[in-house]
Amino acid sequence: MTLEQIKALLADMSLQEKIGQLLQLTGNFYAQEGLATGPMSDMELTQEQVDCAGSILSTVGAKQLRQIQSAYMERQPHHIPLLFMADVINGFRTVFPIPLAQGCSFDPALSEEMARISAKEAARAGLHVTFSPMVDLVRDARWGRVMESTGEDPYLNRLFCRAMIRGYQGEQVGEKDHIAACVKHFAGYGAPMGGREYNQVELSERTLREEYLPAYQAGVEAGAEMFMTSFNTLGRLPSSANRELMQDILRKEWGFDGVLISDWAAIEELLNHGVAADKEEAAYLALQAGVDIDMVTNVYANHLEQQIREGKLPMEWLDASVLRILTLKNKLGLFENPYKDGDESYDEMPEIEAAHRSFARKAAAETFVLLKNDGILPLPQAPTEQVKSIAFVGPYVEEKKICGSWSLFFRMEENVTIREALEEAAAAGKLEIPLTWGRGCQVLDYGQKRDGFREHAENGCTREELEAMEAEAVRLAREADVVVMPLGEHHEYTGEGASRTEIGIPEHQMELFRRVHAVNPNIVVVNFSGRPLDLREVSRKARAVLQVWFPGTEGGHAIVDTLFGETEPGGRLAMSFPYNVGQVPVYYSGLNTGRPHVDGAADCRCVSRYIDAPNKPLYSFGYGLGYTKFTYSPVRLSGAVLEQCQARETGGEKQLIASVTLTNTGSRPGTEVVQLYLRDLAGSVSRPLRELKGFQRIFLAPGESREVAFTITEEMLRFYRLDMIYGSEPGSFMAYIGADSNTENGAEFRLA
Ligand code: NOJ
Repeated sequence: MTLEQIKALLADMSLQEKIGQLLQLTGNFYAQEGLATGPMSDMELTQEQVDCAGSILSTVGAKQLRQIQSAYMERQPHHIPLLFMADVINGFRTVFPIPLAQGCSFDPALSEEMARISAKEAARAGLHVTFSPMVDLVRDARWGRVMESTGEDPYLNRLFCRAMIRGYQGEQVGEKDHIAACVKHFAGYGAPMGGREYNQVELSERTLREEYLPAYQAGVEAGAEMFMTSFNTLGRLPSSANRELMQDILRKEWGFDGVLISDWAAIEELLNHGVAADKEEAAYLALQAGVDIDMVTNVYANHLEQQIREGKLPMEWLDASVLRILTLKNKLGLFENPYKDGDESYDEMPEIEAAHRSFARKAAAETFVLLKNDGILPLPQAPTEQVKSIAFVGPYVEEKKICGSWSLFFRMEENVTIREALEEAAAAGKLEIPLTWGRGCQVLDYGQKRDGFREHAENGCTREELEAMEAEAVRLAREADVVVMPLGEHHEYTGEGASRTEIGIPEHQMELFRRVHAVNPNIVVVNFSGRPLDLREVSRKARAVLQVWFPGTEGGHAIVDTLFGETEPGGRLAMSFPYNVGQVPVYYSGLNTGRPHVDGAADCRCVSRYIDAPNKPLYSFGYGLGYTKFTYSPVRLSGAVLEQCQARETGGEKQLIASVTLTNTGSRPGTEVVQLYLRDLAGSVSRPLRELKGFQRIFLAPGESREVAFTITEEMLRFYRLDMIYGSEPGSFMAYIGADSNTENGAEFRLA
């Protein structure tokens, strides 16, 4: 349809129909004809309102959605199609590593491809929109939703945001096998006080703009069709009522003209936040902020009409929202084909597409971060003098729940466990080394259950059986030369509503670890988690630690490939692993303070430090090992002075090239993630100690060297100055190039 046709349609719609477009319901409203009770009456909605709702969330399947769409369109007065939305976060039927793991790949192109595959599978299942990417900056490992973000760094998050949107939406969202992306959660949801879910957020305007907002803005620049408000207050104002954020920044300053949806019930929650006295006021506040869709409450549906009729709320606000929703439906091509790419044969497909599977396997290994290795990895594929047998002992050896808590549409039986991958490799003759395995314990402790938690650790096991399981595991460990221990958090211990004040590996698993360690210290820990954990003890005692996050469908294959050296662990940390929980939030790009302390420096009381723990995290942002070794030459700069843009006429350099020579000094080919960090030594406000400004993944054969160069421009030196103008200031800067955020390999230059 043309814009004129859409406007004509809008002009012809009744007030009730228009308000209907703003209502989002779940699929069970449409599962049966004319539900008199159940969801409709619970929500105080009439049949007419349900017949006019604009979108549905969390229902999938081409067949089911086709039925819902066709029955709905018959009843909708103008036969306007529904939009179908869902959380396709790290895959649909093929599940990829969780987003935090994807951030660790330092390879946005990888995420773009994962998003493209996810979009195809979701589109074939009848969906039109995914509630992804989540680009909230995260620095507090206590918060359960860090798993959904790509980490602690604004630059990295920006790149991943753009890549995912490109993958989901393609060139144009109406294209076959593409769906609309929804950037969330606007804004600042990743900084809840104390790491407690939904808690208030307090950020200075400078920190908000410089560190938290850029990834969302990248979403607008990349053409995301939708945005979602966050649950939290920011400066005491809940996002869904925050006109400044939603109208002034998102729409006016950044030019977003797509659809803004509330998070689940967030408009109604304005009452709990204490900024709306009743639902009328909540509806008013949200609409004036420009929130177009009310996710699953009746606030808009039942509390706008009268205010509009009485002239308290301008019709133009409503019209603007409806126009945006109709425009999205039009862009998706739904007026021509309301089922878009829904493909019933895909619903029935007996297996995941082979290409999707193989990509998931490759992608997972690229997100694994090798945190420690004294040379024990990679493991030998055939017996050697030192290693004649390997035991796999731990609750994740045979665990199929390896997709993370936001994977909603996969088939559990299609996930590959470590044990299955080992057996397959052994049967194919790829692994000749004798192997044994045992679980040792369950992921959850005996009797462990928390409110809202779906699972109970007693499932299928008595206490006696658990004791026997542990004894057997210890026996296997004693008899083997090397023990691989797949341990970690339960997958529901991260994600929404999963904040923790203790962030270790569960204590009963640590007891197993200690018992195994007592009989065989040759341990490789494989850690499954959705957040950085406190790994002090395992990293001290184990000989190697491989962080595998929640790796998805092909997890078992990717882990076995990596442990036995078929592939390298390709990841570098996108979020620091704290030394202990007391350090949290801990991240690499903090300020220097007036009394900086250097870990390991002479004892001095009145400096910025903890007296019982180091300042540095256990493993810092950017860190991760491969299977070979790299050396860096000192940083070279093409000149000592960079000229500001406006001074270019004076003949200065417009850009500097910072470079190093990278050499693979190990005995295996390997990939290094070469990272560029900048530091502004003195500004009108205090500047971060390091800021990531570039990185390159460089593959080198043993003995090979290569020059790795980065361009430094004036734009890269900009920040929110004292006057709150985003610009650079003349002065001295450091350019560091190295393997992680702690690198001291730097050279100084000036901005003139
Ligand atoms: C609540 C979550 O905060 C959000 O991320 C998600 O997209 C919606 N529910 C819909 O499931």
